[in-house]
Amino acid sequence: MSVQKTLSIIKPDAVKAGHADAINSMIESSGLKILEKKELTLTKEQAQEFYSVHSDKPFYNELCEFMTSGSIIVQMLEGDNAIERYREVMGATNPDDANENTIRKKFASSIQENAVHGSDSEENAIKELNFFFSIN
Ligand code: CMP
Repeated sequence: MSVQKTLSIIKPDAVKAGHADAINSMIESSGLKILEKKELTLTKEQAQEFYSVHSDKPFYNELCEFMTSGSIIVQMLEGDNAIERYREVMGATNPDDANENTIRKKFASSIQENAVHGSDSEENAIKELNFFFSIN
């Protein structure tokens, strides 16, 4: 197992509802370290760029509106197998499909307002971390 870094975003729904501390307790209980953290509000242009891979999807415009609807907390996580580990802690994209004791099962209200984001590959983790932080 290798030590990896990954990007976590606590989305506007979860920040507004006051779930950030509970989400970070779940992240830390899984053995992941929070190396960097900042709270910010995305501009429309930033949201469109961050989610450009989804630009052809029917939910893209709504997703960008949602992601700019309030502040988000972006974090750099580190740990053994961090990318997969954090995806397990988050649970499935759709909270209806998420396992018990995952962040999305507990805190997400819909497939769009799903509380958190996590990078899905090493390549995307580097890209996404560099979007918000400087990693190399
Ligand atoms: P995230 O892990 O941030 O990656 C892309 C996001 O698009 C996803 O979480 C959801 O917030 C959103 N998303 C994915 N699928 C759908 C869908 N079918 N309808 C609406 N939003 C979606």
